[in-house]
Amino acid sequence: KKSEDCVFEGVRYSTLGLVPDTPRMFHKIKHVELGDSDVILNGYPRSGNHWTFEVIGAILNQDIGNEKDDFLFRLMDFMGDDVESRIHGLPAPRLINSHPWASRLPEIIRQGNVKIVYILRNPKDALASWYRLLKDFISPYGFEGTWEECFELSLTGEIPFGSWFDHVLEMEKFMKEYPDSPVHVVLYEKMKEDPVSEIKKLCDFLDRPNVDVEELALATSFAQMKKKREPIYKQSEKALGREGCHGVMVKGVIGGWREWFTVDQSERYDKAFEEKMKGSKLADMVREYI
Ligand code: A3P
Repeated sequence: KKSEDCVFEGVRYSTLGLVPDTPRMFHKIKHVELGDSDVILNGYPRSGNHWTFEVIGAILNQDIGNEKDDFLFRLMDFMGDDVESRIHGLPAPRLINSHPWASRLPEIIRQGNVKIVYILRNPKDALASWYRLLKDFISPYGFEGTWEECFELSLTGEIPFGSWFDHVLEMEKFMKEYPDSPVHVVLYEKMKEDPVSEIKKLCDFLDRPNVDVEELALATSFAQMKKKREPIYKQSEKALGREGCHGVMVKGVIGGWREWFTVDQSERYDKAFEEKMKGSKLADMVREYI
């Protein structure tokens, strides 16, 4: 619903009606102070943010299977007006997750002290998953149209959190402009195919070499997370009056988009992908999956 949506610096957002003045919050986010031990997880919605959050949380705390923090509680985009004090109130090491584009994140990340993990997923899978959530979980604060309409709006970027293409290109631009700012890119599909090596790379990036990566891969597999974490996610859904909807843990597979995209839509998406992502190294990472 347009009335519940809000636009900040040209991008449409949806904060589920939880944030009274969303543009003001996004303005404040840019000026949040962060410290050396802080880690920001950033990614386009439905790219595997909850999963990566779980993995990083266990790595930082050196504690597998006991993550107590709810993803929503650490989601910068929902923290509202007191976003800075909410972040500063978190116990260290602070892991903060976020969906805004790189240029809308706290400007302090340009100084190179804060580690950033960027989660990337085949945009077709992310879009099919985003549509289900926008329709089901986020309605009436998100999107009430059909899949066809959502598909068309995704190409023009008029959906919450804007265009996937711009989201990725913004992060790539940030990485080029601020080469001293540490960014580690995780590919959802690689995490599915070989979680142990991807988690190992994350441990190296986060300077936590002593984690049992095999145990962590198992504890954060789709099946295990569904068993352990889904009841907690369901509580949040219930609190938001969205019981019984398609929530966080849906299928967790590679290539689920095929159930949604027609052949024509898929071809048009591929064309847009090639046009918009020409020369992009991050696009090269996902190309084989789209
Ligand atoms: P699907 O809707 O395709 O199943 P986000 O956390 O960014 O909102 O992403 C949600 C997507 O990640 C959903 O995708 C969800 O099922 C999937 N997901 C959540 N936990 C996962 C896990 N442990 N392994 C693989 N996929 C997971």
